[in-house]
Amino acid sequence: MNNLTGRFISFEGTEGVGKTTAINNLCQKLEDAGIEYVHTREPGGSDFAEKLRDILLSPATQINEDTELLLIFAARSDHLANVILPALKAGKWVICDRFVDSSFAYQGFGRSSDNENHAIAMQAKVKQLTADFVEKMPDLTLWLDLPVKEGIERAGKRSAADRFEQEAVDFFERVHQGYQYLAKNEPERFKRISASGTAEQVAKRIWQAVNENV
Ligand code: TMP
Repeated sequence: MNNLTGRFISFEGTEGVGKTTAINNLCQKLEDAGIEYVHTREPGGSDFAEKLRDILLSPATQINEDTELLLIFAARSDHLANVILPALKAGKWVICDRFVDSSFAYQGFGRSSDNENHAIAMQAKVKQLTADFVEKMPDLTLWLDLPVKEGIERAGKRSAADRFEQEAVDFFERVHQGYQYLAKNEPERFKRISASGTAEQVAKRIWQAVNENV
């Protein structure tokens, strides 16, 4: 897809690492630099995908892990076709709060607690869906890393827990392992950023990573 002239940056992290603040700070810097961008999120980001987001996050939803995975990729397909690809074609930057790496970490690692074969099968499904349905990977992914328990404490101080936030600590420890795996195996694209310290310090690390890699 070489007609995509915009740049595509995604953000990742477990609960409570400060993604929202970090993304808002980056968007402000892009604005100051006169760069046109679209700020979007997953699951969601397009009209239809936002409807699926409501279902996916609702604590009332009872679905199995395959249904969850397929709904997330259905949402992603709509989001890509209607928001991400058109923006990149128009030369805009796309700043996305979560993308395929969340599926790898949450569905591939988080949802596979019982045995290693289950984990391998879930990760293979995510990889296959990505290969089949994701035409464009991010140019850069910034993983905001904080010890899981610290993040959960921060997140706990916010609004009522959604379907994912209700998971136990060991779920998020597995998600964290998924991110570690990605940082190790895709170091060119997937960069770890320490989320410790003040919002200004994190914003500075992010701006440096963007300038070095995009
Ligand atoms: P948010 O809290 O960052 O808005 O994200 C919503 C939740 O959706 C979050 O708990 C992670 C989860 N999620 C997945 O499990 N898989 C995915 O592919 C995506 C994009 C999000």
